[in-house]
Amino acid sequence: MSFQSLPKVELHMHHEGAAPPAFIRGLAKEKNVDISRIFTEDGGYAYRDFWHFLEVYEAATSVLTSPEDFRRLTLAILEESAKEGVVYAESFISPDFCGGRDVAAFKDYLAAIKDASDEAERDFGITLRGVVTCIRHFGGDVARETAKCAQETAGDWIVGFGMGGDEKAGNQSDFKYAYDMAREAGLKLTTHAGEWNGPDEVREALDALKVSRIGHGVRSIEDLNLVERLVEEKITLEVCPGSNVFLGVFDRLENHPIAKLRERGVNVTVSTDDPPFFRTTMTKEYEELQRVFGWDETDFADLNRVALDAAFCNADTKARIA
Ligand code: ADE
Ligand code: ZN
Repeated sequence: MSFQSLPKVELHMHHEGAAPPAFIRGLAKEKNVDISRIFTEDGGYAYRDFWHFLEVYEAATSVLTSPEDFRRLTLAILEESAKEGVVYAESFISPDFCGGRDVAAFKDYLAAIKDASDEAERDFGITLRGVVTCIRHFGGDVARETAKCAQETAGDWIVGFGMGGDEKAGNQSDFKYAYDMAREAGLKLTTHAGEWNGPDEVREALDALKVSRIGHGVRSIEDLNLVERLVEEKITLEVCPGSNVFLGVFDRLENHPIAKLRERGVNVTVSTDDPPFFRTTMTKEYEELQRVFGWDETDFADLNRVALDAAFCNADTKARIA
């Protein structure tokens, strides 16, 4: 069967990371910026490994320089996601790339993104909410400025605070102050952990940042005490299997722990992370999970229930999606 039309909830997608390469290439041409080095001959993104990926990601983002660029980007992303059956998505939006963490500028960028989100809701039937996201390798002090942007925009549309970037740089606890600011503003919390580092990283994220969701978290499987803790504390993992295999966290999906984590009772969800970078879509993720683990429509309905439950949006929005 085709999974494309199944309604899907996606909790982990980076806004710029979802930019179709043709869209970025077009903007670069309009602005006379030469970033041809970041594209493959067949029109995809070119990079060697995760750390090079982060560089290419920032180079692609460098041509997104105005609210209007983000309005067009948002429409392009949501049109693609809606085609894959996504009915609700949360995306990571970084003030670092939207006005350089200036609160007034960030509000302008956000207004443009929300405008596109409203248009996509009307035209494609997809609902988007934003998670303001700091970047780990920019450090804890910079993240406080990001958290200030989050505080000033928290509400029914900006619903969470998160962190992406290089997990090998610094520690989760460097971001405690920024996360305290976000929590006090009423935002729900997530952070990338346990993608590149092991179980201690996930433990530190829970202890220092008090997050209710973990981006990836897949290396938790290396410590069954931690897995039990995830179950007891009802922590949701935003698992991105295609991303993990593409970047080499696991050599093949057959060796990915998503099924084991789920069997042990962890709240597991499925997302694409940065779909064009990893040559994936939500439909492809489902197809691969069916091929390797035999998951069927009942499993996917269950995954989507878990995802909607863990979504950061308000109860009215959840009721509308369900
Ligand atoms: N930024 C975009 N994608 C990311 C990933 N998979 N891990 C960490 N930071 C990211
Ligand atoms: Zn991610």
